[in-house]
Amino acid sequence: MDKIRIVGGNRLEGVIPISGAKNAALPLIIASLLTDERLTLENMPRLRDVSLLTRILTNHGVDYSLNGKRPGEDHLAGQTIHLTAREIVDTRAPYELVSQMRASFWVIGPLLARCHEAKVSLPGGCAIGTRPVDLFISGLQALGAQIDIEAGYAVAKAPGGLVGARYVFPKVSVGATHTLMMAATLAKGETVLENAAREPEVVDLADCLIAMGANIEGAGTSTIRIEGVDRLHGATHRVVPDRIETGTYAMAVAMTGGDVTLTGTSPDLLSNALDVLAATGTTVEAGPDGIRIARGSQPLRPVDVVTEPFPGFPTDLQAQFMALMTRASGVSRITETIFENRFMHVAELSRLGARIAIDGRTAEVTGVDRLIGAPVMATDLRASVSLVIGGLAAEGETIVSRVYHLDRGFERLEEKLTRCGAIVERISGEGMR
Ligand code: UD1
Repeated sequence: MDKIRIVGGNRLEGVIPISGAKNAALPLIIASLLTDERLTLENMPRLRDVSLLTRILTNHGVDYSLNGKRPGEDHLAGQTIHLTAREIVDTRAPYELVSQMRASFWVIGPLLARCHEAKVSLPGGCAIGTRPVDLFISGLQALGAQIDIEAGYAVAKAPGGLVGARYVFPKVSVGATHTLMMAATLAKGETVLENAAREPEVVDLADCLIAMGANIEGAGTSTIRIEGVDRLHGATHRVVPDRIETGTYAMAVAMTGGDVTLTGTSPDLLSNALDVLAATGTTVEAGPDGIRIARGSQPLRPVDVVTEPFPGFPTDLQAQFMALMTRASGVSRITETIFENRFMHVAELSRLGARIAIDGRTAEVTGVDRLIGAPVMATDLRASVSLVIGGLAAEGETIVSRVYHLDRGFERLEEKLTRCGAIVERISGEGMR
C-alpha cells in the first residue's frame, strides 16, 4: 500500500488549481441512469471514487467514454466523460459493489423512476458512524414505492411508476435529497421536498437535471419543487468546483504560512469556512483569479466551530480545521453534529504532538508551539488529509500510511502541494509492509 512522506516546515507559495467536486460528480454520474440519451460531464475530477462508480454503473448497462488530452491542456484540468444508459439491463446493485462505495446506493432513485423497480444492497456500516438509509426508504415510499428489506437488500417496486408527493425530511440528508430529487423528475405530478439539503452539490445536480429536461425549482433552499416529466434527454454539464478541496488547501496555507491563490473555485461555495479562516487571522481575498490565502508570521487565533448542514461549517472540513487549530495560540472547541465517530484523526494528530481532549461530540484543542513528525495512519478521507496538513507544519518527517483513503477524494495532492514548495512524496507500496 502506498504511503505519503512529508517533510514539514516549508511555507506554501504559488497557485493551486481546484478540481471538480467529488460530491457533485457522484450524483451526476448516477443521473445518467435517468435517460437513454448521452449525458456529458465536464470538469470531472480524476479520482478513485469517480472511476469506481462509473464501473459500477456499467453493471446496469451504462456505456461510458473519456475524452483524451487536448492540445495545450494542463494535466490537472478536469476530464470530460460521456455516459449513456441506452437500456437498463439490470436493476440490481449487489453488495460487492455497494459496499465499496456508499453513494452507489443512490441508484435506487433513478432505477425506480425509470424502470419502476430496483434491488439495491444496503451499504452497511462505515468508519464514520452507522449512516442509516431510513430517509431514502421513507422518502421513496412517500412517492408510492413499495420497499421491503430482504436479506440485506432494499427491494423496491413502483408498479405504474412513482407518483409525486410532499415529503418532509425529518433530518437534513445530502444523499437522500439527491436521490429523491432524481426520483421525482420522472414521477407523475408534483413533488415537494421540505427540509431538503441546501449544499451546492444539490444545486449542481438540479442544474444538470434541468438541462436534461427536468422541471425543478428551489434547489439551494430547503424547499424543492419538482414537476415530473415523461422523459429526460441528454445534456452537457460542467461539474461545480470542489469546495472541500478548496477549504482543505486554504487551511494548509493557513497552517504553513505563505501566499497561495486557489484557482477555478468560488468563495460563494464555502463562505462560512472562509469566514472562520479569516477569524483565525489568515488573509482571505476573493479576486478575479480565484481565492488568495495568505499568512505571514502572525499567530493563528483560536476559533470555535460547530459542524452543520450547508450553509454552516462543513463536517468534511472539520478534521482539517482541527489540524490547523493544533497550532493556534490558545484553546478552540470543535463540535461535530453530523456524524458520530468522526474524531478518529484525534489520536493520530496527537502522535504529532497535538493536545486534544474529547468530551462527547466536542473536541477541545489546545494549541502547541510545535508539532513533531511521526508515522501516522489515515482512517478516512477527510481525516487523512488532516494528517497531511499536520505533517506540513511538523518538524521533520511524517509518514502517512493507508493513503488509499486520500486517493478517493483528492486529485494529485502531492503534485499540487509540491508545486507550491512543500516536500511531499508518494512512496509506492511495493516492497513495503
Ligand atoms: C454527503 C457527502 C459527505 C458529507 C455528508 C454531510 C457525498 C458523496 N458525501 O454524505 O462527504 O460528509 O454529505 O455533509 O456527497 N442520515 C440518516 N438517515 C438517512 C440518511 C442520512 O440518519 O437515511 C444521517 C447520517 O447518518 C448523518 C446525517 O444524516 O448523520 C447526514 O448524512 P448525509 O447528509 O445523508 O450524508 P451523505 O449524503 O451520506
